[in-house]
Amino acid sequence: MKKIIIAIDGFSSCGKSTMAKSLARNIGYLYFDSGAMYRAVALFCLEQRLIADGVIDVDTLRNRMSEIRITFEADPVTKNSVTILNGRNVEKEIRSLEVSRIVSQVAALDFVRTDMIAQQRSMGEAKGIVMDGRDIGTTVFPNAEMKIFVTASAEVRAQRRYDEIIARGDSANFDEILENVQLRDHIDQTREVSPLRKADDALLLDNSFMTREEQEQWLIERFNEIVKE
Ligand code: DC
Repeated sequence: MKKIIIAIDGFSSCGKSTMAKSLARNIGYLYFDSGAMYRAVALFCLEQRLIADGVIDVDTLRNRMSEIRITFEADPVTKNSVTILNGRNVEKEIRSLEVSRIVSQVAALDFVRTDMIAQQRSMGEAKGIVMDGRDIGTTVFPNAEMKIFVTASAEVRAQRRYDEIIARGDSANFDEILENVQLRDHIDQTREVSPLRKADDALLLDNSFMTREEQEQWLIERFNEIVKE
């Protein structure tokens, strides 16, 4: 069966990673989380104190980009793909609210995107991958054979993120999360470089009222149709 590239783009917190991961597992493809790469760069900025009062020291970051190495590895226990920043597993740290607050700013920098996009393209060289993000079907892999654009209302997405944080035993404020979701939507859609938009040939998936199983089924059906062609 021919191997293809599957690009899953969409708004933040609409379950893209969950669906991309399970699709990859079901069809035996590799999964890559491009958002995790921008998050790792944001974490680097925080840890190296390249950010003061919410403002990034852009010139220093540009000069230090070559110090940032991001890879993915399978966790030896859970087998889930985890993000490695300069040899260290940062999967938990990159999901913090601190990182979420600044990541859109980091992802809007042209030199950061150029660097990440080059790395993402090399991950897709052998095909047989599922990658999720914001610009995978439009910029990273404009020729991807299967493109999905996922959306859900901001309230539904904020509720999902809130439930996730509570489930891991942390405390959360729903209004603060909703505000963060809306702000990120705005930055992601209006930034100059590679703004979030649906590729003309992407299939639209609004999952506000879909169960995980329905979604999984829908994706497998689309995949089977495409590889059969
Ligand atoms: O999907 P996520 O929330 O982990 O993404 C983190 C941030 O990175 C978010 O602000 C959007 C940005 N991003 C991007 O600009 N391009 C991508 N391909 C993936 C994520």
